[in-house]
Amino acid sequence: MKIKILFVCLGNICRSPLAEAIFKHKVSKRKLEETIEVDSAGTSNYHIGAGPDPRSLENAKKNQIDIDHCARQIVQNDLETFDYIIAMDQENYDNISNLAILAHQKKKLFFMRGFKSGGTYNSHGAKNVPDPYYGGDEGFQNVFNILDEACDNLLQFLLTTHPQLSK
Ligand code: 4NP
Repeated sequence: MKIKILFVCLGNICRSPLAEAIFKHKVSKRKLEETIEVDSAGTSNYHIGAGPDPRSLENAKKNQIDIDHCARQIVQNDLETFDYIIAMDQENYDNISNLAILAHQKKKLFFMRGFKSGGTYNSHGAKNVPDPYYGGDEGFQNVFNILDEACDNLLQFLLTTHPQLSK
């Protein structure tokens, strides 16, 4: 059975589509695309149907990553369909948590920066992935670096939690 991962931010045009693209890249390098499915969504309806922010696209390209995503808003059914719903910041987390009405749905919620090196997870004190939307270009590279590291940690976490992935 596939493990389904959903990255979530506010607009689904900067952080979460980048997280999706970086993570897909790492998954495919490990030849795990048949077992790990990756998508992203936003908590807001601001940019539904839009492509990624051009600054995000350009920065990703500089880092040899192509983003291919069309923004969508998270829906109730995502909390059933996906196994891991990973919020970029506290506000996203709280909004998804309000959408998650059932206990088993709440258990699927994680903070992106809760994934630590060595493949462990600790939500306590997890920092936000800063929102680069209103900032300058250096904000986008900062976000890239943060997401790149968090994606490594997440993959390590999945390999540890689901030993069948290593076979
Ligand atoms: P994202 O960034 O949540 O990382 O996609 C944002 C994109 C758009 C807005 C805010 C944050 N906005 O206010 O339109």
